[in-house]
Amino acid sequence: MKRVFSGIKPTGHLTLGNYLGAMRRWSEVDQHEADALFCVVDLHALTVDHDPGRVRRLSRQAATLLLATGLDPRLCTVFVQSHVDEHARLSYLLECVATDGEMRRMIQYKEKAAAERARGGSVRLSLLTYPVLMAADILAYGTDEVPVGDDQTQHVELTRDLAVRFNQRYGRTFVVPRTTHPEVAARVMNLQDPTSKMGKSDDVGPGVVYLLDEPETVRKKIMRAVTDSGSDVVHDREARPGVSNLLEILAACEGGDPEELAGAYETYGSLKKETAEAVVELLKPVQRRHQELCADPSYVEGVLREGAERAREMARPRVDAAYRAIGLLPAG
Ligand code: TYM
Repeated sequence: MKRVFSGIKPTGHLTLGNYLGAMRRWSEVDQHEADALFCVVDLHALTVDHDPGRVRRLSRQAATLLLATGLDPRLCTVFVQSHVDEHARLSYLLECVATDGEMRRMIQYKEKAAAERARGGSVRLSLLTYPVLMAADILAYGTDEVPVGDDQTQHVELTRDLAVRFNQRYGRTFVVPRTTHPEVAARVMNLQDPTSKMGKSDDVGPGVVYLLDEPETVRKKIMRAVTDSGSDVVHDREARPGVSNLLEILAACEGGDPEELAGAYETYGSLKKETAEAVVELLKPVQRRHQELCADPSYVEGVLREGAERAREMARPRVDAAYRAIGLLPAG
């Protein structure tokens, strides 16, 4: 059975982008077809200015939401990154294989570092090495497939390069993983600025639909989405980013093809209305289940405890093998 690994970072409330770009596939497809692990990557949340209490709360919320989307601990492993030491252990070894030039070329590093500097802050060294820790997450488990949104492609490419390089230098240790993306909505855009990604860390309410937004809030945000000049409904990401984004969200919710769907709407208004209702319906069961799970925090804790134990057992042999292969003296 193939091994699947993916992760989500607790740096903000989870969004419709996270759900359509990644999480939905995890529960609908991956957990049924693969030996799958899903991880709340809390160590990654420490790479930018953070509040300790907020990271803890968001980590718990992300884990609860993962289960609310339908991840079933009998079918897959759900856990928190910092509960499994192997991630940090392996990350250091991979730092000894990666180069600083590679890190500085990463688009997300460039964007986030620029944003930190613009705020007058300093850039944490861990922001630069972020993709190495991500590679460790993936490689520790012998992962075949990494289901992610579009924005993570470059990081998975780097992971492949590091795996190949390590294997060539020190002997075959890691599986070289590949990325999988959803057919539509691999990059959901901000409703107020459809040329930039709908990101959870933005925390600029009106352009971002959060998974826990009330139905009325979802409707309002979608009805107020920025559309493009012109009034006919066509799918063209370059010329009509706003309308295309709505068409992709609708296509992802209801199934179907954004270009074909475009033909069914004469006005932006009717498209927005239909999209808003489709998103409200999509989120309803997730929100209901989230509420139930919040009433039973010990269940979530138990899932995470068992998940971490399972993950540790899966990761340890490969990480130990990497320690031996790279030349470290066994502890005996
Ligand atoms: P994160 O937490 O930013 O996002 C989690 C997943 O959601 C996808 N995503 C989107 N997809 C479509 N449209 C959007 N607007 C959108 N926003 C986010 C992301 O592509 C991702 O799949 N570095 C990762 C976390 C990570 C990871 C890993 C992922 C750490 N280790 C190992 C896979 C494997 C991140 O920050 O994702």
